[in-house]
Amino acid sequence: LPVDTFDLVIFGGTGDLAVRKLLPALFHRFVDGQIQPGSRILGVAREGLDDDGYRAQIRAALNGAAESQPDKLAAFLKLVGYRPLDARKDDGWDDFAKLLAERPGNVRVFYLSTSPELFVDICQRLGHYGLNQGESRVVLEKPIGHDLVSANRINDDVGRVFAESQTFRIDHYLGKETVQNLLALRFGNALFEPLWNAGHIDHVQITVAETLGVEKRGPYYDHAGALRDMVQNHMLQLLCMVAMEPPASMSPDAVRDEKLKVLHSLKRIDEGNASQLTVRGQYRAGAAEGHSVPGYIEDLNSTAKTKVEKSNTETFVALKAEIGNWRWAGVPFYLRTGKRLAERVSEIVVAFKPVPHSIFTAAAGPLAQNRLVLRLQPDEGVKLWLTIKHPGPGGLRLRHVPLDMSFAEAFGAQQPDAYERLLLDVVRGNPTLFMRRDEVEAAWRWADPILAAWAASGEAPRPYTSGTWGPSASVALIERDGRTWDEDNE
Ligand code: BG6
Repeated sequence: LPVDTFDLVIFGGTGDLAVRKLLPALFHRFVDGQIQPGSRILGVAREGLDDDGYRAQIRAALNGAAESQPDKLAAFLKLVGYRPLDARKDDGWDDFAKLLAERPGNVRVFYLSTSPELFVDICQRLGHYGLNQGESRVVLEKPIGHDLVSANRINDDVGRVFAESQTFRIDHYLGKETVQNLLALRFGNALFEPLWNAGHIDHVQITVAETLGVEKRGPYYDHAGALRDMVQNHMLQLLCMVAMEPPASMSPDAVRDEKLKVLHSLKRIDEGNASQLTVRGQYRAGAAEGHSVPGYIEDLNSTAKTKVEKSNTETFVALKAEIGNWRWAGVPFYLRTGKRLAERVSEIVVAFKPVPHSIFTAAAGPLAQNRLVLRLQPDEGVKLWLTIKHPGPGGLRLRHVPLDMSFAEAFGAQQPDAYERLLLDVVRGNPTLFMRRDEVEAAWRWADPILAAWAASGEAPRPYTSGTWGPSASVALIERDGRTWDEDNE
């Protein structure tokens, strides 16, 4: 169904996220007929571009996707415009406000795809022009702040202009089909829930591995690091979706209340235990997808204004989290994420406990644990690994094989990008898949002591060669507990 006509303003409109993700997502929704003609999409940034210059950037970013549909592309680009604006200077803001006033009936969405330091300046200006009134929403890209204190400050200041119900804190992992599928899988099947607890689950692994390096985002990334960039938000959200209690309904607050309880139950990792429970790494030169690639410092220096010789920022994190509540006591959640790893793969592995007693002889082969593997990307799907008898007369030999459901095979069409769903949810005013203020704060409350422990230890991140699975200490982290990272599903 088409959504109401809207004006979507993207601050940071020439940035990587806007050009590579947001505009293509909007194009796809346009092609599917969900965006109505009276809508407008406006890129805003400091660069002195005009509408046509911006459209040319969008056209280039859409390349293949749009070539086969030139009429659609032309119609879409008519909705797109550009205004040069600086959040900290007055120039252009009057005209910008007038432009928006031309369509008072449109839902207004302000997407802040900028550094979080600018969120408050931008919101104050929007408030000054009354652009926060009526059907008006603001979208905040992660990370919200740098720690709990700065997140609180941003949330307070933005909150003076936009009410919580108008504020959409985006975590694009929640828009991924497979992540939403977790809700369907857990709460749409009677099969899993009775087993979904410490009585039956041995441990959970969540891996978000990338082959890309920091690309052109060095200046941002070097201040953030993997814990702030991926763990505090995406990975904790995944953990919440796995661990939360069944919400009473799909209403936004019912779901978010349950996630919040999980965040509050995370056991504290701090100076006392961080060295046993966390591993940080930083990539060195190596290979990615068959090509040799430089190390982190070189990547950083390719975009940084001032060159650096070293950096203490982690591009890899592995950690063992625990949830202190009745359902999960004693079940480790192993999390790992990193750049320039061996493969691009995100998955959640739920490993069940071994059978309590084996009736098979040693000749039958080892019994393996049942595992439910949710593949978030690429090759989205669900696998349930079972033990079965190898067919044939040669005695009873056990094999471990998956019930294998590939989204592509089951549903054909390519999965829509996460931003497609989320952008339209903002226009619709549905915050279910967005982070509430208290969730962001609870996540920082858990992350801050880890960051503080790392800072206090003064230890540099461990080097790892690009194209590997990260520092060997990450393997040791899980092997100490007699377990292994699930790498090949065997
Ligand atoms: C972003 C991070 O939020 O997520 C990036 O800032 C990361 O560093 C990206 O590369 C990963 O998203 P996806 O959808 O490609 O898994």
